[in-house]
Amino acid sequence: MKILVCGGAGYIGSHMVRYLLEQGHEAVVLDNLSTGHAASVPEGLLETADLLVPSSLEAVFARHRFDGVIHFCARSLVGESVAQPYSYYENNVVGTLNLLQAMQKAGVSRLVFSSTAAVFGNPDTSLIDEEHPARPINPYGASKLMVERVLADAGPAYGLRSVALRYFNAAGADPQGDIGESHQPETHLIPNVLRAALGQGGGLKVFGSDYPTRDGTCVRDYVHVNDLASAHLLALQYMGSQEGAHTFNLGNGQGFTVLEVIEASRRITRHAIDFEQVARRPGDPAILVASSEKARRLLGWRPQFTDIGEIIETAWRWHQSQAY
Ligand code: UFG
Repeated sequence: MKILVCGGAGYIGSHMVRYLLEQGHEAVVLDNLSTGHAASVPEGLLETADLLVPSSLEAVFARHRFDGVIHFCARSLVGESVAQPYSYYENNVVGTLNLLQAMQKAGVSRLVFSSTAAVFGNPDTSLIDEEHPARPINPYGASKLMVERVLADAGPAYGLRSVALRYFNAAGADPQGDIGESHQPETHLIPNVLRAALGQGGGLKVFGSDYPTRDGTCVRDYVHVNDLASAHLLALQYMGSQEGAHTFNLGNGQGFTVLEVIEASRRITRHAIDFEQVARRPGDPAILVASSEKARRLLGWRPQFTDIGEIIETAWRWHQSQAY
């Protein structure tokens, strides 16, 4: 298959591109490089274009004939989305509508969409399946849920086949160690913990010590970025026989507290990791753990990195190679 990877210069997108190529598929990367890195894209695959500039998008579709699109382009920081909702709805909703219309014009009818656990807001249960009500509590989650709704409507209206994958906490890096997570500023836990292990970053903070969890810190379900990549390819294949819009939750089904992640990182890095416990970060739900039973059953998804230590180990290899 020849696949357009929108946002393929970013963290998850760059791992997706590598996986597609390894599996014998062709990939073209569309990215505006606002947060992605050209250096993460293999030579000759980058089309610099912007979802908010439809003519730049249509030019890419005019140059290639795609069998499907995987769409990672988004603004994705919860706190920033609360402060700048227009930017989130514009990039994540309007940008996606432009992409869908360009796909329609070009006759491309299969899309895998990056959705998020943030669509669930404060969940009622600790193990979240696809039937759990989606009640986002911030503009980021709301923008992703709006697109899921657009996709549901586009199935019957235009024959669009789509799969929305709701990632829990994407983590780790390709074991080869040459691509990984690199955000500016970095807000995610594992990169910040590993930077603290390297004596970099401005001092690790643990947000909240009074959550109703086993040690008072938030519980999250960390899923390896390469396992996310394999789910996307399975989703593309699933659409070969399935019409309409589908959603799947992707996680390992096991939750770890912030303090457990720090402890596992100490063990792996063999470095001291100092931290300060501070107030809760606004908008953080106490516990988010995925039931991915549906993805296992219908997509045949089998995550390879089920051990948090192994996931951190791959991220550690990448972080050691980075100078901040
Ligand atoms: N945390 C810290 N210190 C840090 C960074 C994070 O204590 O320096 C804590 C957070 O408060 C949270 C946990 O570590 O309890 C995980 O935080 P991350 O920022 O790594 O991840 P989130 O769970 O906040 O975010 C993820 C995705 C988002 C998505 C969200 C859904 O990265 O895109 O899940 O809730 F929106």
